[in-house]
Amino acid sequence: MTIVTCVAPVNMAVIKYWGKRNEDLILPLNDSISATFNVEYMRAKTTVMASPTFKENKIWLNGKEESFENPRLLHCMKELKQRAQKGNDVINWNIHVCSENNFPTAAGLASSAAGYACFVYAVAQLYAVEGDITGIARKGSGSACRSISGGWVQWHMGHLNDGSDSIATQFASVSHWTEMRILTLVVNDNRKKYSSTVGMRRSTATSSFLKHRADSVVTERVLNIIKAIKEKDFKTFAEITMRDSNQFHAICLDTFPPFMYLNSVSMTIIELIHAYNDFYGTPKVAYTFDAGPNACLFLLEADVPEVVALIQHIFPSDVAPVEYFKGIPVHHQNLSQELKAKIDIPKQNKGLIKYIFQTDVGEGAQVVKDENEHLLNESGIPKKLK
Ligand code: DP6
Repeated sequence: MTIVTCVAPVNMAVIKYWGKRNEDLILPLNDSISATFNVEYMRAKTTVMASPTFKENKIWLNGKEESFENPRLLHCMKELKQRAQKGNDVINWNIHVCSENNFPTAAGLASSAAGYACFVYAVAQLYAVEGDITGIARKGSGSACRSISGGWVQWHMGHLNDGSDSIATQFASVSHWTEMRILTLVVNDNRKKYSSTVGMRRSTATSSFLKHRADSVVTERVLNIIKAIKEKDFKTFAEITMRDSNQFHAICLDTFPPFMYLNSVSMTIIELIHAYNDFYGTPKVAYTFDAGPNACLFLLEADVPEVVALIQHIFPSDVAPVEYFKGIPVHHQNLSQELKAKIDIPKQNKGLIKYIFQTDVGEGAQVVKDENEHLLNESGIPKKLK
């Protein structure tokens, strides 16, 4: 019997991946850029155990057993076995996998990226796979390839037909821009979720704007945002981030039939950030939205207390502060009368934003050394079941 437990972080794209040129290999139409979140606050944790006595492969996600016969999962397994060290018996044994997130899945925060990155990283440890594994994680979920490394990451779309050059690499480390903070505003939303996979398939088939984006927009944006991050040029970074998020959501509307991930709360957040940036005459905060209504705000540490106070002023909460604030603690600050007077956005109903997660940029996937942290017991059964 052999067992390993790993953690892998969530990542947030500032240049979005939207559209595939090959569905089976999960090859994107363009490069994308992301920041890796601190693994302490938002992460997947996965234990993988292999044993000659296991009758079949099994997987539990957040305490519930799921089918192992998932094509993406099987695709990752096949590649991991091919890349395993020769003569390693473990690859012939069945495995049990148990994975959980430390943030509510119901919140609609991207969990597949962290989940697949963690699964691939953990099995790679078990099979002693050497070399790049981002290309394997990519086959679980495209954005998962960006969760293997920490800091600031570029997923290169690649040009080869077999996809072997479509991998993710770090271009700036965790210690590069330590003042950067990310606030995730979790928005209440009961609409039916529309998965990224289905959405981007439909956009690829029907949106000419998506083609224009991939052919003529992203290459230059990627160069410019990498330069801005390397030079810690917040103004340029923020403008590109916001424009890229807006372009992605415009493509959703250009898709036929169209769909929309942003709701009215997301739109009010966008207005609020622009009003705040206008007040200072320069971008102080950048918003970006994935396939859901939750906002992700990039800003510098010194500006967090004021921005949070402003959000709370416009979006009053209906829960206790201990439930409302998660992640890195936020210092309280009162809003200046001048700022209140200049922000021309009415106070909203209570409870539209469920809570705020503060995090910083962090390291990539890691092995957890403490054996007490394993999610499976000695018999390979989850310690916690739902
Ligand atoms: C909007 O990686 O979830 O978050 O490859 O089909 O699994 P699949 O899609 P997924 O798409 C993520 C889309 C996005 C933008 C991004 O993360 O770049």
